[in-house]
Amino acid sequence: MSARLALVAIALATAAVPGGAQSVASPDGRTVVTLAAVEGRATWSATRDGRPLVLPSALGFTFRGAPALGEGVRVADAARDERDETFTLPWGEVSRVRDRHRELRVRFAEIDGPRREFIVVVRAFDDGLGFRYELPAQPNLGAFEIEEERTEFAFAEDLKAWWAPADVPSPDRQEMLYSSGPVSKLRLVHTPLTLVGTDGTHLVVHEADLVDYAGMYLQGRSESRTLRAALAKWKDGTAVKGRTPFRSPWRTLQLADSPEGLVPSVLGLKLNPPSRIADTRWIRPMKYNGIWWGMHVNTMTWSSGPLHGATTANARRYIDHAAANGLGGTLVEGWNRGWDVDWMKHGDGFSFTQAYPDYDLAGVARHALEKGVALIVHNETGTFVEHYERQLDSAFALYERLGVRAVKTGYVGDTVNPGGHAHQGQYMVRHHRRVIETAARHGISVVAHEPVKDAGERRTWPNMLSREGSRGMEFNAWGGEGGNPPEHETILFFTRLLSGPMDFTPGIFNLLVTRSGTNVPRTPADARPRTTLAKQLALYVAIHSPVQMTADLIENYEGQPGFQFIRDVAVDWDTTRVLHGRIGDAVVVARKAKGTDEWFIGAITDEEARTVEVPLDFLPAGRDWVAEVYADGPGAHWRDAPLPLAISTVPVDRAKPLRIEMAAGGGQAIRIRAAR
Ligand code: NOJ
Ligand code: CA
Repeated sequence: MSARLALVAIALATAAVPGGAQSVASPDGRTVVTLAAVEGRATWSATRDGRPLVLPSALGFTFRGAPALGEGVRVADAARDERDETFTLPWGEVSRVRDRHRELRVRFAEIDGPRREFIVVVRAFDDGLGFRYELPAQPNLGAFEIEEERTEFAFAEDLKAWWAPADVPSPDRQEMLYSSGPVSKLRLVHTPLTLVGTDGTHLVVHEADLVDYAGMYLQGRSESRTLRAALAKWKDGTAVKGRTPFRSPWRTLQLADSPEGLVPSVLGLKLNPPSRIADTRWIRPMKYNGIWWGMHVNTMTWSSGPLHGATTANARRYIDHAAANGLGGTLVEGWNRGWDVDWMKHGDGFSFTQAYPDYDLAGVARHALEKGVALIVHNETGTFVEHYERQLDSAFALYERLGVRAVKTGYVGDTVNPGGHAHQGQYMVRHHRRVIETAARHGISVVAHEPVKDAGERRTWPNMLSREGSRGMEFNAWGGEGGNPPEHETILFFTRLLSGPMDFTPGIFNLLVTRSGTNVPRTPADARPRTTLAKQLALYVAIHSPVQMTADLIENYEGQPGFQFIRDVAVDWDTTRVLHGRIGDAVVVARKAKGTDEWFIGAITDEEARTVEVPLDFLPAGRDWVAEVYADGPGAHWRDAPLPLAISTVPVDRAKPLRIEMAAGGGQAIRIRAAR
């Protein structure tokens, strides 16, 4: 039946069902999503395996200067569609994604009053569901200002949530630690929000295709199992300014039967448009070093002076080190004018084209080209975004002329920057798209810090390589709580990382360093990475990103046998399989390096020492395999003895489980290759 015929048939059928309820089932039949007008209120609900998952939940908007939308409505008609397509990704946790879904479109119409209409589109997949609003062009809904989105998630039980606060200390700070607790205790939290049911069902609330809208937080209500969408605001209190015809981002609910089933997370990619970049060969995943950690541990400065990090000589040294070790890039921070003031307050002093006198930008860029190393140019805005936008075209044109292929942006500043834009607000959503599209025109890839959340735009713009958007390594240099706790990455894996790659910047080898840059005695409160060395290596596999930094000062890698793992590890993958996962405790993940028969395993634990056995049955039969194992050495412990590393090469067998022993705060990094 054609889509149009189906639409007519369903329009006739709706008259008979209470509230005009319309349902759509996932291809495997397990998840059923229903849209209805319950007593005139537009709602959505979902079941899984016949049991309620989300009870009838509100849909709609409130507007500035116009009546709310979503009440006093009826189901006017419905249409259905289904798809089964497979697409490839130029880079990622997986190289192919199968998009198999069933779609339902329901048109809600106001029964009287302004008689406005809106459409809710639902897509049901085997790994979750997504729904979005469409506001068609119509006489009584043209230009609008959304104040609130009324979308609710009325969970059938008081799920356990793994959450990061969005209201402490300021509304849009993403660099906060995660906690766990029941939905009924949540206030304002970020997405992805990972939820666990008593039957082991795992649910992740997030969004996809965030293009010209405000980022969504989730607002809890005391002692309620219902969360409501809460949009980041403009300074005038509105959230989204638009005009019909208009489409909202998708609200997504990823579903899995176990934590292991959450990864790889591709639901959001299926809900973003295909790549706008036809030939993606210029977009290169890479490992990179950089003039960076020195500033965070105070041995170098971004600003000019005797400790200035970004000197021509230093940059050449880092580029040469990258070339000698097969790293694809070198990041240089503090090269441009503007760092000598209190730049967090005076970011409008930054130039994105003029270098400090001791940094020969063109010469360094030429040296990088000669060495085959991508120079990653740093653009810290201090959240003076309009100031940055005014220079964007000329800066990126200059970088292109110099052969620069990647830019790292930064938006340090709390909540609302001097221009008045929330990090997750509509202005910044637009801004990040503008940067990505400008960069694409100049053949440049982007890594963003203090970014807008990842809503899967890497499918459309694969030059958007990676971003921060959570607490990365930098907190281990100066974080107030002494750095990230040992459990941190075992939570990130099942929360923030479900949205997309993170530029976490692993690979600190001098694990005893303090902020003073010397190995002076520390107090327990002093920040430093609270991991063993083996875990630093394991993070290259556990935290996926097409760009992975070797974050330490290059001299700290000299004579270190563990550095061989960093030389060998891949950054782009054909497939990813979680072999063991306990949120907040431990992760063992195996990934197959793109286009090779090598597998890498990253195993990480929290503050507890753990031994886990994992199957190796993913290895193809009929070959002999060896594992190069980088394990915690005797006596290793994140607190007192992070450095012991035991490196061995052992035969492994697809029929025999692999035993992985990890010290407290430790891990294991493994490369598996065919025996020679
Ligand atoms: C914060 C970023 O996360 C970090 O990587 C960068 O070095 C500083 N801002 C300075 O821009
Ligand atoms: Ca940061």
